[in-house]
Order: sequence, then C-alpha cells, then structure tokens
Amino acid sequence: MDLVNKLTVFGNPIAQSKSPFIHQMFAKQAGLEVEYDRTLATKENFISELSKFLADPNARGCNITSPFKEQTAEWVDELSAAAKIAGAVNTVIKKADGTFIGGTTDGIGLVQDLQRLGVQIKGARILLLGAGGAARGVLQSIFTLEPALLVVANRTQEKAKLLASLIPQDNFKGVGLSQLDEVQQPFDLILNSTSASLTGELPAIPDSVVSKSTWVYDMSYGDKPTVFLQHADKLGVTNTFDGLGMLVGQAAESFYLWTGFRPDVEPVIKALRNNL
Ligand code: ATR
Repeated sequence: MDLVNKLTVFGNPIAQSKSPFIHQMFAKQAGLEVEYDRTLATKENFISELSKFLADPNARGCNITSPFKEQTAEWVDELSAAAKIAGAVNTVIKKADGTFIGGTTDGIGLVQDLQRLGVQIKGARILLLGAGGAARGVLQSIFTLEPALLVVANRTQEKAKLLASLIPQDNFKGVGLSQLDEVQQPFDLILNSTSASLTGELPAIPDSVVSKSTWVYDMSYGDKPTVFLQHADKLGVTNTFDGLGMLVGQAAESFYLWTGFRPDVEPVIKALRNNL
C-alpha cells in the first residue's frame, strides 16, 4: 500500500475551509495517497494539538489559518524570508531531521495567479489597499517581481506607514486612504486586501486612482463579484478578478513544499467556481 501523507488545516472556525477539497484534487493529479483534514483548535490547546498532529510519522506538515498564523510563527524552528516579513505562517513543513519550517504561501499564490491572468508586475505602479495580515503576507512576493512603485493605502494611516517600514525601499510608500486624493496618475494594478469585502463595504478610494485599463484584483471571493469589483466594473474597468485563484495558488505552493509535485491549478479553480 502507498504511504499515506497526513495533512490538515488548523483554524477557528474551520468548517468552511476548502483546503481538503483542493488538496484531494492535487493528490489525485500527483497520484499520491493523501489524508487532509480540518482541525478545530482553541487558543489554549492549539500548540499541543499542533505538536500532537505533527508527531505522527505520516504527517508531512499542515496549513494554518486564522487566528493561529502568528502563534505558529513563534513556534516553528525556522521561518522562510516571506514568513519573517509577514510575521505569520500558513504552511508548516516537517524536515527529515524532525524540525519544522514555517512558510507563507499567500504571496506566491497571489503573484502566480496574477501571472496566470496575464498581469504584468515588473515595472508596474501598484496600489495595495489595506495594511492588515493579508497585506503583510504578500509584500515580499510582490517585491521579488520588481514593481516600479508599491503604495500601501490604509484607512488607519499609521498601520500603512508601519508596513512600509518593514521593507525600506524608495519605491514603497505607506499612506492613509484619504491621501490618495493627491495621486495624479491612475495605478496599473490595484489589489484589495482589506476585509471590507467580507462585510460588503467599499474602501473609500477616489475614482482618479483607477483607469479603464487598470487591473483590479480583490483578494476576497464569493458567489458573485465583491462590491469592490462591482464598483470597478461601474467605472468601466474591464480586467477585474477575485481571489479564488490566489486561494488555489497558495494551496498549490504548500502542496509543492510538502511533496515536490506542482499541481495544475486550472481544473481546481474551475471546480471550486462551479461550487461557490
Ligand atoms: P486581514 O488578516 O484579513 O488582513 P486584519 O489584519 O484585521 O485582517 O486587517 C483588515 C484590514 O482591512 C485593515 O487594513 C483594515 O483597515 P484598518 O487598519 O483601518 O482597520 C481594513 N478594512 C476593514 N474594513 C475596512 C473598510 N470598511 N474600509 C477600509 N478598510 C477596511
């Protein structure tokens, strides 16, 4: 019998997670025997549950989602460069010597999805809305593709400035949303990382930052376009995308880190889209 690769995702809540579905599709492509569960934990028992799961000789690692990503970054033996900047871990990898590396695959998931969609990042002027965990998790990956400018704009200005201080570069700026009124030229790409989409709210940005040829990407997704994407649509933007591809992309990178197999994301995105 094939060796079972045991994996899980920790979170709270966790019942909604699409990760088991996604990883079973990857496992089928790879011809690997994979058991991928959901594990509900509390703040109090998370570390003991995590250690218990990873102690299983068949456990290859696990995914971590809200609210345990920061706690995991403190726990692992080693952090990837992106996880260090993010201060958060979404993927734990068990090494042959029994120690654990913490990585974050959200940024790679995002940039690979943008590349899949034909978005040019090198040399682009990029506006990243929001300065929470989701924004922090993608910074390093965006910079590896050499944009001309990255402006992080946040409702609470101080948080945007703090984020910009993590990567000291002249072409990286942190501003308050209200300061976007001063921007003269539309951006090439706007990424919405705020949690506003989850509550059906629209981040307060001036229309002048968008042109018809701006690429507009919302890191959230749903069964219909987010209010942010609907707004872009009303402004005449043709290239609008939600974050379903990023979700599958980050999972694909985790799967690769555990197994060495790079899954084809297209059929998985299609299957998820049909079931939203
Ligand atoms: P996540 O881990 O999803 O990034 P978070 O760390 O709580 O969640 O951050 C949420 C982000 O969405 C923040 O940047 C927040 O702005 P503030 O720092 O000013 O709170 C942003 N956000 C949430 N609701 C918003 C809204 N209605 N308009 C603009 N920004 C909003």
